[in-house]
Amino acid sequence: MYLRSHLLAVSGFCIEDQQSLLLQLKNNEFKFDASWSTKLEGHVVGLDLSWEFIDGELHNSSALFCFQHLQNLDLSHNYFNSSISPAIGNLKNLVFLNLSDNSFVGKVPMEISQLKNLVSLDLPSSSLKLEIPNLQQLVQNLTKIRYLYLDYVKISAQGKDWSNALLAIPSLEEVSMMGCNLFGPIDSSLERLENLSKLYLDSNNLSSIVPESFAKLKKLTILSLQDCNLRGDFPHKIFQIETLSFISILHNDNLHGSLPYFPLNGSLEILVVRKTNFTGPIPSSLFVLPSIAYVDLSFNHFDGEIKPDMFQSHQYLDILDLSYNNLSMVIDANLSSFPNIFHLGLASCNLTEFPAFLRNHSPMVYSLDLSNNHIQGLIPHWIWKLQGLQWLNLSINYLTGFESMKNLTNNFYVLDLHSNELQGRIPVFSSVAYLDCSSHNFNSIIPHNIGTHLSSTFFLSLSENKFHGHIPRSLCEASLLNELDLSNNSFKGTIPACLIESEMLWVLSLGDNKLTGKIPNSFPKSCWLKALDIHENQLSGLIPESLARCKYLEMLNLGNNHIEGHFPCLLKKISSLRVMVLGGNRLEGPIECFDNNGTWPVLQIIDLSFNNFSGFLPTRTLTTWEAMS
Ligand SMILES: *[C@@H]1O[C@H](CO)[C@@H](O)[C@H](O)[C@H]1NC(C)=O
Ligand SMILES: *[C@@H]1O[C@H](CO)[C@@H](O)[C@H](O)[C@H]1NC(C)=O
Ligand SMILES: *[C@@H]1O[C@H](CO)[C@@H](O)[C@H](O)[C@H]1NC(C)=O
Ligand SMILES: *[C@@H]1O[C@H](CO)[C@@H](O)[C@H](O)[C@H]1NC(C)=O
Ligand SMILES: *[C@@H]1O[C@H](CO)[C@@H](O)[C@H](O)[C@H]1NC(C)=O
Ligand SMILES: *[C@@H]1O[C@H](CO)[C@@H](O)[C@H](O)[C@H]1NC(C)=O
Ligand SMILES: *[C@@H]1O[C@H](CO)[C@@H](O)[C@H](O)[C@H]1NC(C)=O
Ligand SMILES: *[C@@H]1O[C@H](CO)[C@@H](O)[C@H](O)[C@H]1NC(C)=O
Ligand SMILES: *[C@@H]1O[C@H](CO)[C@@H](O)[C@H](O)[C@H]1NC(C)=O
Ligand SMILES: *[C@@H]1O[C@H](CO)[C@@H](O)[C@H](O)[C@H]1NC(C)=O
Ligand SMILES: *[C@@H]1O[C@H](CO)[C@@H](O)[C@H](O)[C@H]1NC(C)=O
Ligand SMILES: *[C@@H]1O[C@H](CO)[C@@H](O)[C@H](O)[C@H]1NC(C)=O
Repeated sequence: MYLRSHLLAVSGFCIEDQQSLLLQLKNNEFKFDASWSTKLEGHVVGLDLSWEFIDGELHNSSALFCFQHLQNLDLSHNYFNSSISPAIGNLKNLVFLNLSDNSFVGKVPMEISQLKNLVSLDLPSSSLKLEIPNLQQLVQNLTKIRYLYLDYVKISAQGKDWSNALLAIPSLEEVSMMGCNLFGPIDSSLERLENLSKLYLDSNNLSSIVPESFAKLKKLTILSLQDCNLRGDFPHKIFQIETLSFISILHNDNLHGSLPYFPLNGSLEILVVRKTNFTGPIPSSLFVLPSIAYVDLSFNHFDGEIKPDMFQSHQYLDILDLSYNNLSMVIDANLSSFPNIFHLGLASCNLTEFPAFLRNHSPMVYSLDLSNNHIQGLIPHWIWKLQGLQWLNLSINYLTGFESMKNLTNNFYVLDLHSNELQGRIPVFSSVAYLDCSSHNFNSIIPHNIGTHLSSTFFLSLSENKFHGHIPRSLCEASLLNELDLSNNSFKGTIPACLIESEMLWVLSLGDNKLTGKIPNSFPKSCWLKALDIHENQLSGLIPESLARCKYLEMLNLGNNHIEGHFPCLLKKISSLRVMVLGGNRLEGPIECFDNNGTWPVLQIIDLSFNNFSGFLPTRTLTTWEAMS
């Protein structure tokens, strides 16, 4: 629907008699002084058409640009896909302009720079660019602007240039220029923006230090500098800005620093220092801040001991992630309380036992990551009964078994147990969506009815165990399964045809087992497979013709089986193939396909070795495999 027809539709809602009643009130009944009354004057001053599913183009001639008294125009969250018409300049009274969340393309028109009354300008779009005007020219005369949102608009400016442009608008309160192709350095004179409260510059390659003068921004509440290639030492004083409630410097690998003392009267709620190069201890002052709710210090070089009693005064710490540092968590079972927490990340925290303080106080924990530690022995029963737990990662430890699996009521969403030393029979987890039980010593057959418990499962890996016996047909009842990995076991018998018939599987890995028989020729018409790996088995027969239906296939590994027949010309239809391994089989004949229109444009690896192919690899064939050159 085009905007023009949409406006008609909107006015159509205003039932005609109601329109005339309003006009009657104004024209015949109410007496008013037209020079003072604004609401009765009759001009449209605000138009909010956000979230209206409008698509198409916004032309120069659109009736929209006739609303010359508009002060507030919100077209955000629609599907406009044209350039921004220069006719926008007609709307000289605009105070709020929101065009965000559309698909506007092309250059931002010069005419926007003439809307001198603008207080708020919101233009985010990845297909817009600033050339003429550049940022400086755009905002030069917009001296009233307080809210400037230009995310993903290609601004492409050096540090001095974008900083000077901003400094020309001393009234700025909120600036967001994420992914704008801005370069460094960050200009220390930005401290002069005395009312700056929110600054988002994420995803720009600033290659810059952060100037200490930012600490003089006395009203700063949000500072977001994620993925900015920051360097040098991050100034302590910035963390200590009293008004600061959110700071994220996530993913700045070259940024050094340490955490300072946090004054008790601070406002910090969210502190994200993930993936930087910070060192030193953690200051306990951080965790006594009553406001703190979210702390992510993972992937750094913090060191020293962590005592959970640091956190106990909190009623509700939303997120605490200390994973992948050089920290040592000291388990204190006598802790008197522990806060409710949404996510607790203690991966690689030198844990040698389960954090028993979680058992004693039974806090609400939604997500718990204890992976990459040195925890030995049995998985305790209480861990399965933690209130609200849905996401549990115990991978890469030295766990050997399960204490008890009785009376479980939690419905796990993600359960990652890979790379432990679990033995015996595999426990059955109902309604788990993601289950990784790879790399253990499970040495049994899989319960024949396992599939009936996996009706919500989309990922299942049992690879690298010692499972034997047949692949249970009941796995086909796991009707949501996208990814099934049974590789590196000792499964025998045939591949259940119903697995091949699945219209849900993206990845099927059955490699390195003892499977025999033919590959079922029953790939469905709507085959979604991207990867099929059945190498290192004893499969025989032909490459099934129906495999050509898998038109999204990227990886095919049939290596080291007893497969017969000719070079699989029929697979030429699959243009997405990147890797094809046929080596170590009994294929024969020439490696050439006649009367075939397909090529493998992205094929990168092809292994045909150890077969009985005859003749040479024809040059013509090679030249059609474009990606290999
Ligand atoms: C905008 O979308 C409409 C239909 O939604 C389409 O007909 C038109 O070609 C698109 N214009 C551009 C410039 O992409
Ligand atoms: C809109 O008007 C500008 C000049 O005001 C002109 O350059 C442009 O071609 C016009 N666009 C359309 C689609 O008519
Ligand atoms: C613009 O609209 C979007 C989507 O409706 C909204 O999220 C955003 O806050 C608005 N911008 C301003 C400055 O109000
Ligand atoms: C800003 O205003 C000055 C004075 O009115 C004018 O000379 C200049 O061209 C304007 N700049 C832009 C980019 O519109
Ligand atoms: C900053 O905000 C204060 C209070 O709202 C206001 O009085 C002052 O004029 C603003 N400063 C600038 C440069 O706009
Ligand atoms: C970021 O900028 C630096 C210096 O200008 C440059 O060396 C580096 O390659 C850039 N990084 C990326 C990812 O573009
Ligand atoms: C991180 O800091 C250490 C010294 O504290 C230094 O040796 C190392 O090179 C730094 N890493 C990066 C990526 O800057
Ligand atoms: C906050 O505490 C610091 C010292 O911890 C003090 O210097 C500052 O004046 C205090 N601010 C307020 C507003 O109380
Ligand atoms: C990690 O901490 C230990 C003991 O606290 C220390 O000996 C070691 O040097 C630290 N390693 C790194 C890489 O900082
Ligand atoms: C890990 O904990 C052990 C004691 O359990 C300690 O000896 C060792 O230093 C700790 N390692 C680090 C890196 O802190
Ligand atoms: C399971 O529940 C039964 C009955 O409520 C109880 O007797 C038994 O002790 C529970 N088992 C475990 C391991 O909690
Ligand atoms: C090759 O293309 C021709 C015409 O485009 C078509 O008639 C023929 O069936 C195609 N051959 C194969 C094997 O797809």
